This record gives sequence, structure tokens and C-alpha cells, in this order.
Amino acid sequence: MENENKKIIELIDLTRIFEDGLIAVDNVNLYVRKGEFVTFLGPSGCGKSTTLRMIAGFDKPTKGKILLNGEDISDLPPNLRPINTVFQRYALFPHLNVYDNIAFGLKLQKQKVTYEKADGTTFTKTEKLSKREISEKVAKVLKMVDLEGFEKRSVSTLSGGQQQRVAIARAIVNEPQILLLDEPLGALDLKMRKDMQLELKEMHKKLGITFIYVTHDQEEALTMSDTIVVMQDGVIQQVGTPTDIYNEPKNSFVANFIGESNIFSGTSLGDKKVKFIGKEFDCLDDFPKNENVDVVVRPEDVIFTDIGKGKVEGKIISSIFKGVHYEMVMKVGKTEVIIQNTEERKVGETVCIDIKPDGIHLMHKEFSSNKYDGYITKKNTVCFGDGEFECDVTKLYPNSTLDEEGYLITDNGEKIDLTDVDVNVEVGLKDIEISDDENAGGAVGNIISIIYKGDHYQLIVRTDENEEYFVVDTEDTWNENDRVSVIIKPEKIKLTLKTENHR
Ligand SMILES: Nc1ncnc2c1ncn2[C@@H]1O[C@H](COP(=O)(O)OP(=O)(O)O)[C@@H](O)[C@H]1O
Ligand SMILES: [Mg+2]
Repeated sequence: MENENKKIIELIDLTRIFEDGLIAVDNVNLYVRKGEFVTFLGPSGCGKSTTLRMIAGFDKPTKGKILLNGEDISDLPPNLRPINTVFQRYALFPHLNVYDNIAFGLKLQKQKVTYEKADGTTFTKTEKLSKREISEKVAKVLKMVDLEGFEKRSVSTLSGGQQQRVAIARAIVNEPQILLLDEPLGALDLKMRKDMQLELKEMHKKLGITFIYVTHDQEEALTMSDTIVVMQDGVIQQVGTPTDIYNEPKNSFVANFIGESNIFSGTSLGDKKVKFIGKEFDCLDDFPKNENVDVVVRPEDVIFTDIGKGKVEGKIISSIFKGVHYEMVMKVGKTEVIIQNTEERKVGETVCIDIKPDGIHLMHKEFSSNKYDGYITKKNTVCFGDGEFECDVTKLYPNSTLDEEGYLITDNGEKIDLTDVDVNVEVGLKDIEISDDENAGGAVGNIISIIYKGDHYQLIVRTDENEEYFVVDTEDTWNENDRVSVIIKPEKIKLTLKTENHR
């Protein structure tokens, strides 16, 4: 089809920074093709709604622009954009019946009508839609949402699902080019939500218009979309088809967010081989030798073999029936492997497993260490990451010492005042401890993400003031949003002098 590849919406460097300094949408670049079903997927607070609101025109970008069919619409008010939005809360008029709810916008709408005079010349008049035109349009969309005959019903007597259908009917009755849907099924119960997912997909096909959908539910995104845009903290993490995103996640955030997965720490051995959980596996990804990698293995790609025939032996420590398959956890040393299989292996049983090359996905490790710009404060303290930490400044100069006043004495007796000197700071992921005692460490923040990596958790702590991040590997269990302080032993803080100091 000719339209197939045409871009209908383009977001260029789209950024929204709220008045309090929060960056809700951070330099988003994306295009949406005409007729496509695109879903923004990500945890609550990642900037999905803000992005949608800017496309709709309810919110203004701080930076960047939005093109519609190639034209900048950043300054166009919402009512002049050929775009309609369906929200999670239906926003229907409770005192109006179904017909009037849907017809509301149409009654205000004006259209240009061309008439022909007796002498053959024509003239154009702006007119409201006629009663008949309105009722025809309403009947058509009611059929579309499967609510024929509901015209006279008061909306307050409808079920949640029916009310949402009315809201959708109201949004499509103006024949927008783009329908925005912000978690439209969020208020429905599970069964209703599943039914409506299929109906919406069907409706998208029938209408042939572009749908931009927002959800935090990965299964919903995978079921419905042509393209999924995974967001975290206002930043696009990956754009792709559901299969791409599921099978080839770009990073561990995506892997973890899209369904259950095993993420192991491993080492690439080169020649499409990788070592993890203590064994060598063949894989399809060709990574350089000795690179530390994250290895993603979907639980359904872990297969049981006869004892002695597979790669790894371990003990089943839990098993839950999930309707179609069992979800089991096998323990090998300190590592846990999640396994999905229609066949159950009982808790306590020793099992042997293997993973085929196409079930193993390598990812570059996103964080091998935390790096900051810092500066020395006094004697042996350094400021970085929104905090102040004790350190060992003598490491900056070989064989140096500190004198009583805090001056650094170098190997050849030179006296250096390090106060306010800029330094690069590096801290390993395992070298950070966290504590629920806010006063115990050098910086304070909230845990904003927790990813299980097979034998440990990887947490991200974000500080309040400048939103600095500490990525922490730990075996302890924490909860998202926990308020914690960050403790780093002085010997674990690696300092180097910034070289470009003399300008
Ligand atoms: N009007 C606002 N003022 C300040 N911060 C806001 C405002 N609206 C949203 N935010 C913040 O912006 C971030 C993104 O919000 P939102 O786009 O609603 O996320 P999502 O829809 O993905 O849950 C959140 O941290 C939220 O608290
Ligand atoms: Mg939202």
C-alpha cells in the first residue's frame, strides 16, 4: 500500500521538563507510520502520558517539535489537530444518554457545504451538521463498538466496558486521523480487558487509522501492537515489533520489563560462545572475547534433559502451575534459573537442563561501574553523586602523604592544596552498600528500579537533588521506592585527576 510507509507523526528531540525541574520526557525521537498501531510501554511515571498529551496538544514541549504529515503542529491547539484521545477514566457526561454523549462534539461541528445556484455558479456556506447526518454518524460508530440500540440508555446504567466503548465511539465519531488511547482499559477487570484488547485491535483494522496506545502492561502491548516503544525515565529504550522486543531486548531493563526472563552475568568467549552459570554455551551472537555480558534466557527456552545429558544440573526449589505451564525455579550453586515447561518437576527433584543457541541472547553490560564528576572537599573527602564521601586522596599521587593540616605532600616533597580540585570518580557496582538508615551513608535517594540477575539484584538508587544514579549489585532484597542511603568504603572510591584542569 502506498500509505504504508508514510510518516504521520514525527517527534523530534521532544522534551518536557516540568516547572519543578523534573524531566518527564527526555529528547525523544520517533516516528509513527500512517495506519500503524504503536504502543508506548513502560512503568508508571516513565513519561508515556506526557508524550501523548503533547501529541494531543494538551501539553507543550519544553524543547523539540511534533510534525503531523510533515508539518510542525507544536503550536496548534488540540481542537485543530485531527487527533482524538480516549482516557482511562471515560470522561463521559453522566447526565446525558449514550446518543447525546457521542453526538456532543458533532453538534458543535461546522462544515463547509457547496451549493449550486440556478445559474450554475456555486457558493460555499459554513453549516452545522443536520440532525440526520448526526444520527447516521452516531449509528455508524455505535455499530463499530458493538452498542447498536443503546442510544437512549443513560450512561450511568452501563458497565465499565460499555462506558469505555461509548468513550471510544465518541472519540472516533469525528473521524480523526489519529486516535490516542491512554491506558483505556486500565479500569476494567481482567476478563473485560482481554475482550476489549481484541475488539480494539479489530477496530483498528476496520477504521484503518493510526492508533497510539499507552500501557504499562507488557502483555497488552505484545498482543495489540505493530510497534512497541519501550520507555524508562523519559527515555526510549527500544523501538521494535513485539517479536523483536521480546526476543532481542536491547538491554536488561527491556528484557526484564517484557515478561519473565533470566538475566545471568556471563563472559563472551568469542566465536559465538559464552560462559555463564559456570558452563560454556553456544549462542548466535558474536561478541568479542572476554567481554563481560548480560545473558538473557527466556524461561521457556530452558529445556529439561535426561540427567547427565544436559549442561547444568540443579535442584528444583519452587514450582507453580500457571494455567498452561509450570513455572519452576532451579537452583545451581547460588544462581536461580527460572524454567517454564508444561511438564512439572517437583520441588526437591534434581534436574538437568540445556539451552539451545537461539535461546541465548547476549547484551553488552550497561553498567560496569558508576562514574561521576567529583571534587575534593577537605582533607580526605570527596563530593559526587549528590553526596560527600570519605576517600583516600593520597591515591591521586603515588607515594604521597597527608600532613596534619590536610595538605598533600607528594613523593618529592611538594605541598598541594587539593580543596576544590576536580576529579573523576569511579565506584564498582559491588562496592556500594545501601542502608535504610538515611544518615549512615554519603548520599540519600530512592530505589527506582530492581532487576533480578540470576544470583543477585541490580538496583538503581536515584538521589533527589540532582537525580544522580548509583547502580548497585546486591544479594539483599529491597523494594522499589525504598528510601536508602549509599555507603562506600574509602578504599572503594577510585579517584583520578581531571587532566583538562588548566584552561
Ligand atoms: N504537571 C506535572 N507537573 C510535574 N510533574 C509531572 C506533571 N505531570 C507528570 N509529572 C511527572 O512526570 C513524570 C512522567 O509522568 P507521566 O507522563 O504521567 O508518566 P506515565 O504516564 O508514564 O505514568 C512523572 O514523574 C510524573 O510525576
Ligand atoms: Mg500515564
